[in-house]
Amino acid sequence: MRVLVAGGAGAIGGRLIPRLIAEGHNVVATTRSRARIERLRALGAEPVVMDGLDAAAVGEVVAKAHPETVIHQMTALAGPGNLRRFDREFAATNELRTRGTDNLLAAAVGAGVRRVIVASFTGWPNIRAGGPVKTEQDPLDPRPPAAQRRSLAAIAHLEQVVPAARDVEGIVLRYGLFYGPGSSDEISAMVRKRALPLVGDGTGVWSFIHVDDAAAATVAALHHGAPGGLYNIVDDEPAPLSQWLPFLADALGAEPPRRIPTWLARIVGGPVAVSMTTSIRGSSNARAKRDLGWSPRYGSWRDGFREPVPAGEARPRTVRRPVATDPGDQLRRRSKVSRGRRASPVDRE
Ligand SMILES: NC(=O)c1ccc[n+]([C@@H]2O[C@H](COP(=O)([O-])OP(=O)(O)OC[C@H]3O[C@@H](n4cnc5c(N)ncnc54)[C@H](OP(=O)(O)O)[C@@H]3O)[C@@H](O)[C@H]2O)c1
Repeated sequence: MRVLVAGGAGAIGGRLIPRLIAEGHNVVATTRSRARIERLRALGAEPVVMDGLDAAAVGEVVAKAHPETVIHQMTALAGPGNLRRFDREFAATNELRTRGTDNLLAAAVGAGVRRVIVASFTGWPNIRAGGPVKTEQDPLDPRPPAAQRRSLAAIAHLEQVVPAARDVEGIVLRYGLFYGPGSSDEISAMVRKRALPLVGDGTGVWSFIHVDDAAAATVAALHHGAPGGLYNIVDDEPAPLSQWLPFLADALGAEPPRRIPTWLARIVGGPVAVSMTTSIRGSSNARAKRDLGWSPRYGSWRDGFREPVPAGEARPRTVRRPVATDPGDQLRRRSKVSRGRRASPVDRE
């Protein structure tokens, strides 16, 4: 099958393209950067330069590539930055989730593409009421923290227009938080510095996914999954911060995380920091397992976090801000540091 991967030079692209090639598909992959052309070629793809926000360029690239399936992996997350300004930090990604998705859908319909698979996110967008684990049938958060409203609206847009698309089979894959080779290493960097505290009882529930499992689910979605389907691509063990954070610290050989009360986190970190650490909900993968014929190889982050990342496969990051030393400042600032020794979650969502 001929497959176009929009945004193929990123974390998931690096694991997805070789799998697609290994399964015998012809892959065209896009980047905005001429410098990444060789990377795409080395992964086995035919590289194309494309800006996903340029509707005309997207139309041309898709028409010329003439794929049977288009996969949207475009995102512009450089790191979480300041959680108080969540929507501002996500502005470019939100554009890719709204305009970028619309552009790809229109181009795909115009080019007679059969299926469009679009990456979304699951975790903090879940409704923060009721049980700790949500399915695709549960609503998105009707009352997100103010600083996340636009980012949630962008996700809601994507998750509305893709399944509703006419003349093309739209599938949404809501990945959990990535960790593993090629993904960035920001949470590990924070954990090593004790910069991610356990807030209150650490009841915020997180859903992780190893990048290889995310790639495998994406390949499965080429042939499986109902048109209009929405799938949570997460591991089998949604877990509260109070469980996975000390575990990750131990796996990294770091000191146990500091503890701070919720009232203090609210003052120093703001509502998003408190929400992420105390009230977000995890996600169930039951539907994806059933409909995609997929199952995560890393059923639990407990297995994945301890697995060493092969040398050279952790994605280097540059330090953008000075690393904070008190937990409050740390919650506000979220440092970006390069290179980890272990597979680790990234905190770009
Ligand atoms: N990372 C996570 O934890 C996570 C979790 C859940 C969902 N997701 C979603 O999964 C998808 C893939 O994530 P990822 O971690 O692989 O992202 P990534 O590593 O940041 O890669 C995304 C790619 O998008 C491309 N891109 C950025 N702006 C673009 C634009 N204007 N036009 C065209 N391409 C553009 C970039 O390519 P160039 O710079 O080469 O152009 C980049 O390589 C995204 O939709 C993301 O939102 C990620």
